[in-house]
Amino acid sequence: IAVFHSATSLGRSRETRAKNGPYTGFKVLEVKVKGTNNTAELISNLETKFQVDVWGHPSRDATDIMVSPVYLNDVVQTLTDNNASVIIKFDDVQKLLEDRVDEDSKLTRQRRSVPPTVVSRRYLRLPQMRQFLNHVREHSPIANVTVSSLGRSFEGRSTPYVLIKSKNSKGDKMVIIIDAGIHSREWIAPAMALNIVYKLAFNPDHDPEVEDLLEKFDWIIIPVLNPDGYVYSHLNSSTRLWRKTRSNAYSNEPRCQGVDANRNFGYQWSDSPQRGGSSNPCNDNFSGPQGFSEPETRNLRNLMRSLEGRIAAYFSLHSYGQYFLFPWGYDAGARLEDEDEMMEVARKFSDTMWEKNLWYEVGAAAKVLYAAAGASDDYARGGAGVKYAFTVELSPADSSPYGFLLPSNLISSVVDDHWPAFKAVALTVWDRLVED
Ligand code: ARG
Ligand code: ZN
Repeated sequence: IAVFHSATSLGRSRETRAKNGPYTGFKVLEVKVKGTNNTAELISNLETKFQVDVWGHPSRDATDIMVSPVYLNDVVQTLTDNNASVIIKFDDVQKLLEDRVDEDSKLTRQRRSVPPTVVSRRYLRLPQMRQFLNHVREHSPIANVTVSSLGRSFEGRSTPYVLIKSKNSKGDKMVIIIDAGIHSREWIAPAMALNIVYKLAFNPDHDPEVEDLLEKFDWIIIPVLNPDGYVYSHLNSSTRLWRKTRSNAYSNEPRCQGVDANRNFGYQWSDSPQRGGSSNPCNDNFSGPQGFSEPETRNLRNLMRSLEGRIAAYFSLHSYGQYFLFPWGYDAGARLEDEDEMMEVARKFSDTMWEKNLWYEVGAAAKVLYAAAGASDDYARGGAGVKYAFTVELSPADSSPYGFLLPSNLISSVVDDHWPAFKAVALTVWDRLVED
């Protein structure tokens, strides 16, 4: 069985032996399936039979999966039988996690107060995030910033959101909503959201477009829609890869807690909850017992309802893979009547990214990735009537060695690469809204 180690070195400064932990010996494999094989089905079989954790996108011809040492041989055998090629991307996930968690939370353990520029250098823990938001509220020179809570999470945490209005604006404008942290392990997404708050409220680059965007829109940023999961992913290396919420309403087993919040939004849900989701609480894509069964998804629904008719665009930030997606996600056969127009707007994003040499694939979520009902973009569009609803799978690319564990020293380049693309889409949306 041919298994190759990828050439990527992760550049560790010190060579310590990993302590034993829940991910000792776990490997991340990059799987490439050639030809017409149904990769999605193959991967989903591995998921149920060998408890494989899918990191990448199972319908693409290359995806990443995390495998326990117990099942490694079976998994590799199965893949090889199906003509897949397998490369070991990470040899020991435990080791990798310990290095990364160490590195990424260094500052947050040391400091009590956080200078605002730290948002582009570190992944903030939830309490630091709240501090940062309060700082922005008190010190923004150009905007009126309000920090409130959308509502409580399952474990009772408040869910902060930021409303940013230009200082001299009278009354309400159309709103752009950006959320992140629906999936807790995708840390770059909340980081990007906080950096957008920073760019809008402080305009550190003296960028005239920021002034323009504050004139045109009110901005609402929700850095972490799933605060329980986010806090849990910061606990230690064995919880770093948590994706779901932390509800314990559907199972008594600790490892089966949580609902995949991005399968729980109640749009086209009752017909196809299992499409791209699972009815088994132990799975990472458990949809919940019914649409909007979870407080986290209801929190966003309530916000959107309260802003009915005012939402110009909605961006939901995830990672990773570099995809810019729009509805529909629930069914690959469903097509937006304005798909061509959505495609044009989406291309603004990918064209702007391409100027930075970053390749984004654009299109309808179910076609580009896989069908999955209950995602927030489908609800925004179909349930809340937001025409320009997008899901952004941020960097790194599928081919990157980092996956969810993007080192914090890369945050600032992700932010600087992506902010122009968000601005470009917002301005395009404005032009189109004014035209109509
Ligand atoms: N990776 C995201 C998820 O699995 C993609 C969601 C895309 N949108 C959709 N409507 N399916 O949740
Ligand atoms: Zn996600």
